[in-house]
Amino acid sequence: MAKTVKTIGVLTSGGDAPGMNAAIRAVVRAAIAKGIKVKGIMRGYAGLLQEEIIDMESTSVSDTINRGGTILYTARCTEFTTAEGQKQGAEICHKHGIDGIVVIGGDGSFRGAGKLSALGVNTIGVPGTIDLDIACTDYTIGFDTAVNTAMDAIDKVRDTSTSHERCSIIEVMGRHAGYIALWCGIANGAEDILLPERYDGNEQMLINRIIDNRKRGKKHNIIINAEGIGHSASMARRIEAATGIETRATILGHMQRGGTPTCKDRVYATIMGAKAVELLADGKSNRVMAYKNGNYVDFDIQEALAMTKDIPEDQYDISKMMSR
Ligand code: ADP
Ligand code: F6P
Repeated sequence: MAKTVKTIGVLTSGGDAPGMNAAIRAVVRAAIAKGIKVKGIMRGYAGLLQEEIIDMESTSVSDTINRGGTILYTARCTEFTTAEGQKQGAEICHKHGIDGIVVIGGDGSFRGAGKLSALGVNTIGVPGTIDLDIACTDYTIGFDTAVNTAMDAIDKVRDTSTSHERCSIIEVMGRHAGYIALWCGIANGAEDILLPERYDGNEQMLINRIIDNRKRGKKHNIIINAEGIGHSASMARRIEAATGIETRATILGHMQRGGTPTCKDRVYATIMGAKAVELLADGKSNRVMAYKNGNYVDFDIQEALAMTKDIPEDQYDISKMMSR
């Protein structure tokens, strides 16, 4: 018989993502519907260690489903990666009567959640990152908004790039993962997509393609470069020197992490947040919510963290076919 859960905590950790507020709201309201009290833990694990813990009511999350960012704020916390920090975090949970925590974040945040779970605080992870780089799930909260924001911005750059018959390198977020780059590359009809998982650094090939594209009559040449490859400004200078075609670099940066969440982000975040509370209410711990093959499912945290995923080769091939 599972221990009755009386109070749960919710926190957001790592990079923020549009839709995190919808997930917080779902956790708060699903818990209240089950008669469970909710405490908001501010600034991720950093706030936990500082005991920045607030009581949350249904009205605490009014007017938030449509807001980007996270009302609980977020942080990265080195102290929590130590055994001492984790022990302190668990003790603080016990002191505040917190029986379980919903952690909304990425892989790093789930590692922390796993540690808390081992110390007797039931934890459930909800995938929140614009990078789509959590292997156990086909969907992460924030990705849909981020790619739509980036797509709109790239369309605008394309207009001016075409008018001036220039080459444009547009850098999108993704330090280790190229999903935003791949999706924008396909959606924006880019001539080239440079992915951290695939780019071999062969700039001459890139230059040859730009020259060839111009000979074939292409007015612009859009290159989507992932943040993990970076160096967009120096790349633009070298391309201009080698091709004689005016080349500009645009780094989209953190604008991709903000803004009103799309319908998809709000809905998936709401369902995952509510299901995370169901897991806690059922006495479950050390699980991650996921959306896999059309279903909402959950995985053991360590098993989820051991999974790997890569850019789908067929999608990458199709993107290249479309650009020729
Ligand atoms: P994300 O959750 O988006 O992957 P990070 O990798 O920055 O973001 O992780 C967020 C936070 O999770 C870190 O600042 C740290 O507090 C915590 N964390 C990351 N790795 C671990 C770990 N191995 N053990 C405990 N906590 C961790
Ligand atoms: O949250 C994911 C992400 O936006 C990555 O795409 C990016 O590499 C990283 O976070 C940047 O984080 P920050 O600028 O907040 O340190």
